[in-house]
Amino acid sequence: MTKNSIEFDPYIERKAFDETKQGVKGLVDAKITEIPRIFHHPQDILADKKPSVCVSNLEIPIIDFASVHVDTASREAVVEKVKYAVENWGFFQVINHGIPLNVLEEIKDAVRRFHEEDPELKKSYFSRDDANKKFVYNSNFDLYGSSPSVNWRDSFSCYIAPDPPAPEEIPETCRDAMFEYSKHVLSLGGLLFELLSEALGLKSETLKSMDCLKTLLMICHYYPPCPQPDLTLGITKHSDNSFLTLLLQDNIGGLQILHQDTWVDVSPLHGALVVNIGDFLQLITNDKFLSVEHRVLANRQGPRISVASFFSSSMRPNSRVYGPMKELVSEENPPKYRDITIKEYSKIFFEKGLDGTSHLSNIRI
Ligand code: OGA
Ligand code: NI
Repeated sequence: MTKNSIEFDPYIERKAFDETKQGVKGLVDAKITEIPRIFHHPQDILADKKPSVCVSNLEIPIIDFASVHVDTASREAVVEKVKYAVENWGFFQVINHGIPLNVLEEIKDAVRRFHEEDPELKKSYFSRDDANKKFVYNSNFDLYGSSPSVNWRDSFSCYIAPDPPAPEEIPETCRDAMFEYSKHVLSLGGLLFELLSEALGLKSETLKSMDCLKTLLMICHYYPPCPQPDLTLGITKHSDNSFLTLLLQDNIGGLQILHQDTWVDVSPLHGALVVNIGDFLQLITNDKFLSVEHRVLANRQGPRISVASFFSSSMRPNSRVYGPMKELVSEENPPKYRDITIKEYSKIFFEKGLDGTSHLSNIRI
């Protein structure tokens, strides 16, 4: 090392970024034209972007829930579609899901309002202590994990169920919208777990009785416009630390899933919600349902807003142990995973951060 060379210490640079408490939005407000080095993703990961051709005839399934309560035959037809989607794609979009359009618009506006609020007010919510606080705002939950690069994204998160926050724990800019939207998410989540139980050939209440619907964590993302989108990502390749995730995205685009070794765009569909299977459902269904890897590209346009509702107790205390369901294993199909608590699993997830590998491989037998 020569005397004049400047050493790149990612920890110091990450910490300096963190201490601004202004996230990526702060960099954009400062009108930077080149993104800091900590946001540069390794070349091999970026090269991986190139084959991400948008194969126009390859799209995740779109399922219409309008007929789900009409009669048994219509419900069975929907269950068949859900079954196909989660066994082959791990992802689908749902339309006519029952959440009014204005509720979807309100929550997206509210998320944008919070992130575009006076930086001083935002700073008062800045924290990394999501184990003890109901509402936290920060940038990159895994900033100090082993993930090789930082993502072009700010977020706030809030545990909604089973113990809802007191109104004053949520900033006024998004309070009403959070309560209204989450009420609908819990109700749609209930329906989804019924349909998924039926898709397994089990009683409708099975997954709910295993507490899959019990805990809801909402993470509301803000992806600012990026001056050098080819050097970074909005969110690194990962699979979700949940049973199920319900995602609302705006019309900017950039979400992709890895399907049969090809990156496939999840094109925004106005009024639709994206449903994806998380790691715990893959685990308890013994690989019948797939928790598929996905990522978000950075974009010159923006901001992009998305709201991810995770059914997962994550790092919250929860002594329940999960393993492949007895009903789904047999001598020919033995358990593929060892038993684990969600907290134990999440600890691995948070320590490693989004490093591009699925954490399910750690508990595979
Ligand atoms: C996530 C996620 C996608 C998006 O939060 O786990 O994958 O579009 N989000 O923000
Ligand atoms: Ni995700």
